[in-house]
Amino acid sequence: MEKKRSQWSSNLGFILAAAGSAIGLGNIWKFPYMAGSNGGFAFIIIYLIIVLLIGIPVMMAEISVGRKMRMNAYDSFRTISSKWAFVGGLGVLCGFVILSFYSVIGGWSISYFLKFIVAIFNPASMPADTAGMFTELIGDVFQPILFHILFMAACIVIVLKGIAGGIEKASKFMMPTLFILLIITIIRSLTLGGNAMQGVSFLFKPDFSAITPKVLLAALGQAFFSLSLGMGCLVTYGSYLKREDNITKSAAIICGLDTLIAILAGLAIFPAVFAFKVEPGAGPGLVFITLPALFQQMPFGNFFGALFFLLIIFAALTSAISLLEVVNAFAIEKFNMPRNVSTIIVGIVIFLVGIPSALSQGGPLSGNLLPDWVPVLGGVPFLDFMSNLSDMLLPIGGFFICLVVAYVWKFDNAAKEISVDGSGRFPMRKAFEILVAVLIPIAILIVFLNIFGVFNVFFQ
Ligand code: PHE
Repeated sequence: MEKKRSQWSSNLGFILAAAGSAIGLGNIWKFPYMAGSNGGFAFIIIYLIIVLLIGIPVMMAEISVGRKMRMNAYDSFRTISSKWAFVGGLGVLCGFVILSFYSVIGGWSISYFLKFIVAIFNPASMPADTAGMFTELIGDVFQPILFHILFMAACIVIVLKGIAGGIEKASKFMMPTLFILLIITIIRSLTLGGNAMQGVSFLFKPDFSAITPKVLLAALGQAFFSLSLGMGCLVTYGSYLKREDNITKSAAIICGLDTLIAILAGLAIFPAVFAFKVEPGAGPGLVFITLPALFQQMPFGNFFGALFFLLIIFAALTSAISLLEVVNAFAIEKFNMPRNVSTIIVGIVIFLVGIPSALSQGGPLSGNLLPDWVPVLGGVPFLDFMSNLSDMLLPIGGFFICLVVAYVWKFDNAAKEISVDGSGRFPMRKAFEILVAVLIPIAILIVFLNIFGVFNVFFQ
């Protein structure tokens, strides 16, 4: 174990790093579409309630475990009880799973950023067929690997510089920049004229009839992924937090920022989509096919395209470094390695695990990994398999984290940590306890069963 453990240099530094972890691809391409097509403002209200009742308490639980134990996620849970060490182990495993495919998508974003930079000087270099451009990029053998290397290299460079000097410093630069880029994009999008305002109503029109139990459950899963919960990420970041910092307030601010950016991303995307009268498609298609086509039609579009993909790169990078740090903190403390050696080794291993994902989107490994009949994980290529696997592992992790805090570590210990030994306040302690001990585990159980399609039988 390290003799002198690193710390964030300030509470703001921690908040920006943790918000950086939370704000990522999940906010920018998944949330806007989910909200827009599942009831607009009604979905946003439901999502806010979930963030409030589940996101904030689970985040507080994770941070308090990390800060008390001052160890990586695995050893934190092992110290609480060796029987429950697997909860931390699951988190470390999740770090591998998520980062390996996240980096591939981060790599695509780097490629697009460069394409738009080139197009600023040579507009003819950007093909009109953006769907073809995307298929060509992700189906190639060489490019997805090259950009995956670049993205992982950037993560490694940041993380090997340590907590305050690497992760915190990078987040302090990238998060405010991301915010400014997002505001510029929103202004551009809202001022396109035509039907731009229809994009705003697509996002904000309340339609409570769209809130089916299935939508509710999807919102719960989205909250976990988007807030980086359930895999010890906040345990790890919490382990570098100063003893006297306010956990309740920090968790509330991080969750608030994450939700704000998700809603703002919708305001950046949909007005443009409606101004140009295109179908608001979902997922990768929206960001890598629809939007590039729009940028080509708007004045100074290549410039705004470059800004938008820089924004995505920053969002993805600050999330990716938190994933790398979960595995890295474990490797440093488990194998007693210096940080720089560990970061490089872990980074390379995750890069290698990501190769099958990089080659699975039209490349040589495009076949389905598991047969169709396997629930959730079957019938999809490697990258999608990894993504579905993480959708499953996060709620499972969150479920066990709540149980460990409530029944093994016990609330008195959590309360001591959250209230800084009684010297600070722990508002709504009773509510926190009921949520973490009973309501959240039950809610997660429902999400998890839904993943296996149990509820589809009832709620079709
Ligand atoms: N929260 C990140 C996003 O929204 C993804 C992530 C999940 C990061 C889990 C860390 C841990 O893109």
